[in-house]
Amino acid sequence: MRVVTLSEPDDFDTWRDAARGLAAEQVPPDDVIWQVGDQPTDLFAGEGNGRPPAPAASPGFSVPRAFLDLARSVILSNEPQRFALLYTLLTRLRLERGLMEDRADPLMKRLDVIAKQVRRDIHKMRAFLRFREVEDGGDKRFVAWFEPDHHIVRANAAFFVNRFAIMRWSILTPEVSIHWDGKALTEGPGATKADAPDGDPVEEVWKTYYASIFNPARVKVGAMLKEMPRKYWKNMPETALVPQLLAGAQAREVRMIETARAQDHHGGIGGNSQIAWDALREEAMGCTRCPLYKPATQTVFGEGPVDAPLMFVGEQPGDQEDLAGRPFVGPAGQVFDRALAEAGVDRSRVYVTNAVKHFKFEQRGKRRIHDKPGTGEIDACRWWIEQEQMLIKPQVTVALGATAARSLFGKTMTIGRERGREMQLPGGGAAWITVHPSYLLRLPDKAQAEEEYARFVAELRMAHATLA
Ligand code: URA
Repeated sequence: MRVVTLSEPDDFDTWRDAARGLAAEQVPPDDVIWQVGDQPTDLFAGEGNGRPPAPAASPGFSVPRAFLDLARSVILSNEPQRFALLYTLLTRLRLERGLMEDRADPLMKRLDVIAKQVRRDIHKMRAFLRFREVEDGGDKRFVAWFEPDHHIVRANAAFFVNRFAIMRWSILTPEVSIHWDGKALTEGPGATKADAPDGDPVEEVWKTYYASIFNPARVKVGAMLKEMPRKYWKNMPETALVPQLLAGAQAREVRMIETARAQDHHGGIGGNSQIAWDALREEAMGCTRCPLYKPATQTVFGEGPVDAPLMFVGEQPGDQEDLAGRPFVGPAGQVFDRALAEAGVDRSRVYVTNAVKHFKFEQRGKRRIHDKPGTGEIDACRWWIEQEQMLIKPQVTVALGATAARSLFGKTMTIGRERGREMQLPGGGAAWITVHPSYLLRLPDKAQAEEEYARFVAELRMAHATLA
């Protein structure tokens, strides 16, 4: 039996080095005991010297990047089996190429669920942590208490350092505390809630936290309360203000975005809008507005410059987009890229997104077959596209296909009748409707496919030409 001792429950580096060494020696998963610190996780954990095996001189095989990404998330989980499960996956990868893409495999499924729980916990800490101000030797210091479900505090530290770079703060949790003095991050033992100050969270800090403009979870109070487990409520005195928040929510949201855009115009494009967009994307990563988030790998948010004059809206991510986390990178994306280039449109200058942000599919054996989103899913997801539109304010929006058109216009649009002419969106702004690139891929007749493709390119060119 081999015993590997990790220094902390989230000690990814030691796990990786040990796993590499063990895999190179072809040590079977059942012969390894993983333990954290001097806490044996198994009856036999006293055996062996507890040191991880040295990393193999020649590891013999390389693992896909997706494995390392998955492992980095799973290690942060509170699942006691996580080290062993990951090591089992690593040993199987040697023989089973393509295992990472096999979403039907029970081990992959289990690890995906664990990774998703960790991502949600990371998101919750970012969204729901509240700082209180304390006097500290005549100086201000900000202290927050948080109870994560998983071992995410260290992994989340860089986020808080970035957001609150100029403040001095501490985040206290039961397992560990982290402290930022404006220059360096230090770590201390866990704490109790009694160690953290009580009282109102600091409004100014809120503003820094959310870049003074934007926090959808806070503004959309209904969504916030739905998402927020009760255990966070007690740390958030503003939950007592729900009625007032509800009353002004939509108007405030619009004002905040307007302010961000106005500031951009004074301070250069990309400043606050970029921060607002980052916050929005971050929020979307934890979206549970409809059940599609459950089987999907991740939210696929839009991408492109926040000052893009042209926005394209597709239907939903496909299999490849779901794995890559980026819109239009699969077969339909290739048709789209080619057509954009022929229409003289630079993809890096436009914003590309989808009406529905999670991949809807039907599992058939190992394959995930695209399933069309329903109106309930389109309507649930419209919230995100409205935020993207408010933030980016494109001069022209192009709906690629019926799902996008339904999302943007709020009703069913007949593509054949509405395509190829300039229209107005219900909320203002010029829009065009054209076909979805995957429709072009499905046409069996070669001549018709070529004709339809040429028409698609022509419509992209016309939409582009309407830019001021
Ligand atoms: N189809 C879409 O509508 N969007 C994508 O991102 C990929 C395929």
